[in-house]
Amino acid sequence: MSSPAFLSPLFVYDQQKTTPEQGFFPRAQLFDGVDVEIGFGLGEFLVRQACAHSNRYFIGVEQIWERIYKTLKRIQRAQPYPNNISLVALDATVLFEWLIAPRTIDRIYCLFPCPWPKKKHIKHRLFSRNFLKLLNNRLRLNGTIQLVTDDEAYFQWVREETKEVGFEVETRMVGPRFATKFERKWTCAGQEMFFEMVMTKRDHQEVAIKKGEPVKAYTIDKRFNPQGMTFRDVVGGEITLVFKQWLFDARYQRGEALILVAEPGMEQYVRVAVIKKEEGWRICRARGQRFFPTDGVARAIEEVYRQIATEAGQEG
Ligand SMILES: C[S@@+](CC[C@H](N)C(=O)[O-])C[C@H]1O[C@@H](n2cnc3c(N)ncnc32)[C@H](O)[C@@H]1O
Repeated sequence: MSSPAFLSPLFVYDQQKTTPEQGFFPRAQLFDGVDVEIGFGLGEFLVRQACAHSNRYFIGVEQIWERIYKTLKRIQRAQPYPNNISLVALDATVLFEWLIAPRTIDRIYCLFPCPWPKKKHIKHRLFSRNFLKLLNNRLRLNGTIQLVTDDEAYFQWVREETKEVGFEVETRMVGPRFATKFERKWTCAGQEMFFEMVMTKRDHQEVAIKKGEPVKAYTIDKRFNPQGMTFRDVVGGEITLVFKQWLFDARYQRGEALILVAEPGMEQYVRVAVIKKEEGWRICRARGQRFFPTDGVARAIEEVYRQIATEAGQEG
């Protein structure tokens, strides 16, 4: 059997076609269970697991595109082709918050997560109490998280974070046995034992799946000069908006602002349309794009409206 297209395992988010209730990974329902690997790196463990357990479905989440690309190549080379893997190019928090329904996952793996050893970087660490609560909610009862790290201080920190978030925790020292890039890195540097933690879900925690709100549209009934319009970035708060481009087509009386929306755990590019209508200028999401309808996106559209309203002398 020939393998499907190179990019087939890559998950594509389309909020307009799928809802959390329908499930963002519909193929997963055809399998006996669902496992997730966080930060799969070069995909060595993920692809081996998927090949060894063809009755289960594997979702891998990773942020670095070069590593995702190498994993796609690894999947393509695997014999027989594993048709039970989805790769998600997102922050793991976004995956679990928006795309995975409560009580649907059996096992979560994370091998050698970034330990962020400096004190001022602790806020970047995954496996904080809040993240563990989120994972607890998405796991089935008795589902597990297996975490392996080379870093003792990080291990102790996670151990503290696991308190009162519904897990029974077992810890032990293990030798190298996952054959991943980072395990090899530490083994070559002389480390012979690693810290393993297995968290088993015993009590359920409530964390709702994020859905966002339908994004609002605005109308301005005053005159403004779209050709001369310049937008100011919004910086300093939880949400940052960087205006990358403003294009205006005089013939169709239609403009589009391209905005980088950065907010905790997520960065997205959003296009906001400004279109001349009989009743005035309509400001709304541009057609044909996919994004998570976050507070940042709502703010971006509102900001285009406010800045045009100010330019036009209308209260924004
Ligand atoms: C130290 S590497 C370990 C990679 C692999 N597990 C291994 O053992 O070789 C940690 C990986 O986690 C990924 N990562 C870190 N934070 C992440 C997050 N919030 N969501 C998804 N992946 C993340 C990094 O991009 C990196 O590839």
